[in-house]
Amino acid sequence: MLVPLIIFLFGFSLAQKYEPTWASIDSRPLPQWYDEAKFGIFCHWGVYSVPAFKSEWFWNHWKGSPPDEEVVEYVEKNYPPGFSYADFGHEFRAQDFNASHFVELVKSSHARYFVFTSKHHEGFTMWPSAESWNWNSVDVGPHRDIVGELKTEFSKTDIHFGLYFSQYEWFHPYYLQNNTNLYPERVSYPQMVDIVKKYGPEVIWSDGDWDRTDEYWRSKEFLAWLYNESPVKNRVVVNDRWGRGIMGQHGGFLTYSDHFDPGHLLARKWENCLTLDVASWGHRRSMKAADVRTTKDLITQLARTISCGGNMLLNFGPDRFGNVAPIFEERLRNLGKWVETNEEAIFGSKPWIYQNDSDSVWYTSKLRSEANSALKNPIFNYQNKADTVIYAFVLDVPSNGLVKLTSVTYTKEIKISLLGSSQLLKAKKETQGITVDVSVIPWKALASTESIVLKIEHAASDYNVNPIKKLQRLGLLDREGRSVNTLAF
Ligand SMILES: *[C@@H]1O[C@H](CO)[C@@H](O)[C@H](O)[C@H]1NC(C)=O
Ligand SMILES: *[C@@H]1O[C@H](CO)[C@@H](O)[C@H](O)[C@H]1NC(C)=O
Ligand SMILES: *[C@@H]1O[C@H](CO)[C@@H](O)[C@H](O)[C@H]1NC(C)=O
Repeated sequence: MLVPLIIFLFGFSLAQKYEPTWASIDSRPLPQWYDEAKFGIFCHWGVYSVPAFKSEWFWNHWKGSPPDEEVVEYVEKNYPPGFSYADFGHEFRAQDFNASHFVELVKSSHARYFVFTSKHHEGFTMWPSAESWNWNSVDVGPHRDIVGELKTEFSKTDIHFGLYFSQYEWFHPYYLQNNTNLYPERVSYPQMVDIVKKYGPEVIWSDGDWDRTDEYWRSKEFLAWLYNESPVKNRVVVNDRWGRGIMGQHGGFLTYSDHFDPGHLLARKWENCLTLDVASWGHRRSMKAADVRTTKDLITQLARTISCGGNMLLNFGPDRFGNVAPIFEERLRNLGKWVETNEEAIFGSKPWIYQNDSDSVWYTSKLRSEANSALKNPIFNYQNKADTVIYAFVLDVPSNGLVKLTSVTYTKEIKISLLGSSQLLKAKKETQGITVDVSVIPWKALASTESIVLKIEHAASDYNVNPIKKLQRLGLLDREGRSVNTLAF
């Protein structure tokens, strides 16, 4: 009898119960997989992919107040009188959609998680939602459970599967009633519980929350249920968009704003969500090649983000047939090739004591031995000559091949290599930092781009730098380590 009793007590003491308060919800450690994953793919797909004009906000531009004249004229010119947004639902057929092709694309990017729009602000659900009768992908249009098909295919891989969910709906009659809570009671709250139970998402990416309070959405109650009782309680992560004033303050990882790119470390885990088409999250018919972020830009964003403790969530929008623009595919594949070559510096890394030397040199790190706990900070790794491995993301290699790393301190034992090659490189001591000569190896051919990653071992120890404390002294981080600057850059 003794052994089971001990197991029972041990298990019981581990089962933390979260209360529906922000203090309690914020105290939950993020499941480790999320920090280690670093890079995810976002996908915006819905009825807005049919008009594919301007952006996924099409319906709001057309019928919201004030309306966007350009969109109003476009509809008048191209559609018969009396045409409604609901009519686009019938044209959304997803004829070419094959979930295994999405999986293959995400795999090629080497991303470790995938987040899909289960419902955007238009309210159309991509799963058979009982709360969205006749405005979902099974009753109308494709007549398929899109979320379910994706979940099934992603479950066959080790890519984590997550769902985006819009709290509000621009034109839902219940939502437009200002003085009742019919909408959260009968629509949004039951929908969130439904997607969790049906599809077991490991990320819930809430959005469209900003016009109403967290009380209205019942966010704290939902999160306490999610963390205490739901089928994904041990592995789910959520963002911070849970009601007016909550973004950048509470929840799981912080998003602050779309395209958030602070350029400095944060003590709270954060995410930079950005999109391949710089002008839209959803498919846009008039997109030009120049509107699509270059592979170089994507590598730069990834390096800047993970050096500062963030994850990068990169979006593509398929067309209404379920096809992905070849230019998106090309970008994801090229980025994926680079990520694969340099994966050691990316996945499972931590920020270092310095984040960057300039806008074109950024750092991550790993500890060779986990035994030396003095080197561990939850957010970054201290610099120890024997244990710390530094990775320098050099975004632009000078044409003479001489790379300056001003934050790395020379020792006689210093060992430097280029990821993707086994050849060692020579380092020269400078007044500040070191210079590494990469001209001796065909680095351009190896990385197929001008951005490389150098692996540096046995640089001099430095225990005096705590970047979090420094940023708090400078007033860039608050006491909890959140950014005080919530603007996107
Ligand atoms: C989806 O694509 C895969 C791989 O190309 C193929 O094997 C499968 O038959 C396709 N499924 C459908 C329904 O077309
Ligand atoms: C609800 O409130 C909004 C914003 O305050 C206002 O524009 C709208 O007219 C109100 N709707 C109703 C039905 O009262
Ligand atoms: C690091 O990058 C940030 C953001 O681009 C920049 O403001 C800062 O000056 C850089 N740090 C150094 C030491 O160059």
